[in-house]
Amino acid sequence: MLRQLPEVSDPNLLVGVSTGDDAAVYKLSARVALVQTVDFFPPIVDDPYTYGAIAAANALSDVYAMGGTPLLALNIVGFPVSLPKEVLRRILKGGAEKAAEAGVLIVGGHTVDDEEPKYGLAVTGLVQPGKQVTNAGARPGDVLVLTKPIGTGIITTAGKEGRVPAKVLREAIRHMTTLNHAAADAMVRVEVHAATDVTGFGLLGHLRPMLKASGATARVTASAVPMLAGARALAEQGVAPGGTRRNLESLNTAVRWGRAVDEHTRLLLCDAQTSGGLLIAVPRRKLKRLVAELRGSGVETAAVIGEVLTKGALDSKLIAVE
Ligand code: CO
Ligand code: CO
Repeated sequence: MLRQLPEVSDPNLLVGVSTGDDAAVYKLSARVALVQTVDFFPPIVDDPYTYGAIAAANALSDVYAMGGTPLLALNIVGFPVSLPKEVLRRILKGGAEKAAEAGVLIVGGHTVDDEEPKYGLAVTGLVQPGKQVTNAGARPGDVLVLTKPIGTGIITTAGKEGRVPAKVLREAIRHMTTLNHAAADAMVRVEVHAATDVTGFGLLGHLRPMLKASGATARVTASAVPMLAGARALAEQGVAPGGTRRNLESLNTAVRWGRAVDEHTRLLLCDAQTSGGLLIAVPRRKLKRLVAELRGSGVETAAVIGEVLTKGALDSKLIAVE
């Protein structure tokens, strides 16, 4: 949609909308650039506090994905007048405590009456100009690393229908409330080529703009992609959010599916994530160091899931899944 609006360009706008990046980057001086992003959505879990924490972690992630440091945030709230104010208080508390964990100050916000609650943050961060990690830098030979397991869309959808074991949902929530802070710090120390975070368009749906912006293609090894326990079983039972099915449909033109990749795996690789991990393109010679830095920073998952190929390597396709 943004591409249909008049094009925005400015010598200080280092990252705008053209590369499908997670946040905009605007240079203030030779040493400082602003990183700006916003994200909000309706509840994905029942508990208001947990919903607030997930929404905040998810919004902050777009700054981390750019290699930036988030500093300030504003609450964005839609809330029905008919619901108890205590519910809103707990949503905001979840968001505030997650922001505090990130060292981010929530300095205001805005609330409107809405039929269904919505919550998120507009986040402002900083990055050193030239140090931003964008979608556009992936190079053939780079290795793709993912820092959280996927499957949160399918699991939370099952959760809304009361069809998910408590343990499975708890684990998904634990990952969704985990900040991408440590993963981003590790990535910045190693100086990787490109990164994005995996959210609503799913793993492959976020890999695609990275490859487009970088003028490259990629091979993904399905069996190497970490998946949350229970997600596959739910996919096999036919559980999937509408967004996940739409992702799969829209990716079919871009993906060459290996014969061994079954329909449930395809769905999982396109599953709409909330507060997913970072997807990083790292030069192969730095892979060992990146994995060590991630592990050393307490990041549980540092999965090598594929590699970046040259532009014409897959004929007309962007991604080969094997
Ligand atoms: Co993002
Ligand atoms: Co976003």
